[in-house]
Amino acid sequence: MTLRTSVEITPTGAALGAELRGVDLRTLDRSQFDAVHRAWLAHGVLLFRDQFLADAALVAFSRWFGDLDQAPIQESGRRCVDGYPEIYVVSNVVENGVAIGSLGAGEAVWHTDMSYLPDPPKASVLMAREVPATGGDTSFCTMYGAWDALPAALRARVERLRVKHDGTYNSGGFVRAGVTPSDDPRTAPGTLHPLVCVHPETGRRHLYLGRRRNAWLEGLPLAESDALLDEIWAIATADSLSWRHHWRVGDVVMWDNRCVMHRRDAFDPATRRVMHRTQIKGETRPSPT
Ligand code: OGA
Ligand code: MN
Repeated sequence: MTLRTSVEITPTGAALGAELRGVDLRTLDRSQFDAVHRAWLAHGVLLFRDQFLADAALVAFSRWFGDLDQAPIQESGRRCVDGYPEIYVVSNVVENGVAIGSLGAGEAVWHTDMSYLPDPPKASVLMAREVPATGGDTSFCTMYGAWDALPAALRARVERLRVKHDGTYNSGGFVRAGVTPSDDPRTAPGTLHPLVCVHPETGRRHLYLGRRRNAWLEGLPLAESDALLDEIWAIATADSLSWRHHWRVGDVVMWDNRCVMHRRDAFDPATRRVMHRTQIKGETRPSPT
C-alpha cells in the first residue's frame, strides 16, 4: 500500500487563492482530487509549485475536472502543439519568424477566458515552462468579492442587466482571427451574459464582467453603460480583491474561470516566457438563477 500525505492548503492571505502542497499532480488519486476540487471551489485560484508537467500530464490532470476544449487558434493563425490539440501556448517567443504562442510581452488586461462565447470554459490550467526573472506576474481577482463590494443602490440598479462580452480583441489587445474590428460594442461580435450570476457549484452570487473593452450593458445608451461599467470595474478590480502571483518554472496555477478574472503584467520582450494552458469545458452557461 502506498502511503499518501494529505493535501496541505495554505490560503494566500489575499482575497482569493491558496497554495496546495503535498500532492504530485501526475499521480493524483480520487481522494486527493476531491480535496483539490473542494479547495478550488473555496479559494478560486490554486497554486501548485514544482510540478513540471509535460503536456500529456497537464492534459491528464485537467481531465479530472471534465472534458477539455480544443485550444483556441493562436494569434499566428495556427493551433500550436503537435499531438495535443487541447494545449494553448501563451508566449512571446518567436521561432523562424512565427510567434509560438499568444499575448506577446505586453500587459494582458483583466479578463475572463473566452467569455465572448455562449459556453465559456469553467477553468483554465496554466503551467510555467519558462519565465523571466522579473515581470510577467499574473494577478487574479474575485468576482464574489466584487459583487459583495457593490453598494446596495448600484446592486439594485444592475442586478438584472445583461452585459455584452466582446469577441473582437483578446486580452493582449490583438484582434481575433477572422474578425473585422469594430468599436461599437452593440454590433461587435460577442455574447450577452447576465451581469450577476449564481455559481452552479457553490451557489454564491458573483459578477461576470469578462473584459472592459467594448463591453455594453444591454438596453442602455452607450454613455450611461460606460459610466456604470467604469464604476463597477473600479470596485471589482481594487487591489483589496486581488492576488498577484510571481511565477517559477514548474508552477501550475488553475482558476475558476466563472468567478475569477485575471491579468498579466508586461515583461521585457528580450526575455523568454512560455506557458502551456488547458481549458475545461463549462457544464452550464453563466446563469442568473
Ligand atoms: C491565459 C492568460 C496570462 C499569463 O492563459 O488565459 O491570460 O500570465 N495568461 O500568461
Ligand atoms: Mn486569459
